[in-house]
Amino acid sequence: MITVETAHSILERLNATPLKGAALRRRAMELLDELDTYNWSGIYRLEEDELVLDEYVGAATDHTRIPVGRGVCGTAVAENQNQVIEDVRELENYLACSIQTRSEIVVLIKDDSRILGQIDIDGHQVGAFDQSDEKLLESISKILADKWTE
Ligand code: SME
Repeated sequence: MITVETAHSILERLNATPLKGAALRRRAMELLDELDTYNWSGIYRLEEDELVLDEYVGAATDHTRIPVGRGVCGTAVAENQNQVIEDVRELENYLACSIQTRSEIVVLIKDDSRILGQIDIDGHQVGAFDQSDEKLLESISKILADKWTE
């Protein structure tokens, strides 16, 4: 759950940077990492039929390449649909990055014609994410898509 004020502050600071491409994506993940409920914040780029780990803030993960259709991340691409998972322990198609993770949200990054990648956030609390988080991440996705390359 993100308040309107918090979302506004993050978007304002992201819009204020002159950064582009990977540096902008890094800045976005650093801003999201300030939020208490965001315990791992990262971006995957879609390269053909695989998601490739891009900028992230949090513990290193084994899942640096994820095939489309696998896990929460791959499902988002396969179904062309954001994912908001209240409790990852209830999923069969799930790739664990940390045993502490309880909830996850994945929001797609798209330009006009295709999926460029996604923002993936893990939380340690059950039900950490809702529509307010999805809305903030959608706004960030648009900013990142507009400045995807350097
Ligand atoms: N949990 C994800 C894998 C990525 S990690 O959360 C960083 C999934 O099931 O696709």
